[in-house]
Amino acid sequence: MRIDIITVLPGLLEGPFSHSILKRAEDKGLASVKVHDLRGYGIGKQKSVDNYAFGGGAGMVMMIEPIAKCIEDLKKERDYDEVIYMTPDGLTFNQAMANSFSLTENLIILCGHYKGVDERVRQHLITKEVSIGDFVLSGGELAAAVVTDAIIRLLPGVLNDETSALTDSFQDGLLAPPVYTRPATYKGWKVPEVLLSGHAANIESWRFDESVRRTKERRPDLMEGDNSLGKGDSTTARNDN
Ligand code: 6GU
Repeated sequence: MRIDIITVLPGLLEGPFSHSILKRAEDKGLASVKVHDLRGYGIGKQKSVDNYAFGGGAGMVMMIEPIAKCIEDLKKERDYDEVIYMTPDGLTFNQAMANSFSLTENLIILCGHYKGVDERVRQHLITKEVSIGDFVLSGGELAAAVVTDAIIRLLPGVLNDETSALTDSFQDGLLAPPVYTRPATYKGWKVPEVLLSGHAANIESWRFDESVRRTKERRPDLMEGDNSLGKGDSTTARNDN
């Protein structure tokens, strides 16, 4: 899978992709993330990528020409499944979307900045608009890093058994159960007996009950069937680890 990220702040995205699981996915050749500096497509001596809003008002607007040229250049090289625009007024990202994007081959992610992009970019060049929650970030870069991480960790071979995505919170519409490791007793605080019993069926049943209990307590909304993550959802991960 290939993800091309278009940004005016490429430096913000260097860190996330040169570490941990994302780095490993790149090293294994399972995913390739390329960051493109929109400034390289800027207009004039100043390499401008933004300008004042028509009609007035505070804040700059990202111009269509640099963005269009950059997307055009990328599309010359390969076909893209989606051109995603990161924006707080987009559709809220969730696990079902991560699963669905992980089934694609090539994605472009455009990071918004300033007061956003010229509306014609959204109308004509963008196929999906994604937010990562109801709060405002200074730009789409950190949101793009979040979305990219959530997608890439689902690709077959990226995770091993120990980190398998199949037991993640949300993957089955439930939060993950509590986990414990050694020591079995710390300052008198004990690990639940069943986990030390070696009885696989009892352990599995305990974990399921704890998942349900935790979900009812913390995220009752996930159990009301009014979300897109429930068991009935047809969007499944391509993770087959
Ligand atoms: Cl995608 N962008 C920005 N700027 N702020 C956000 C966001 C995206 N998602 C939540 N807040």
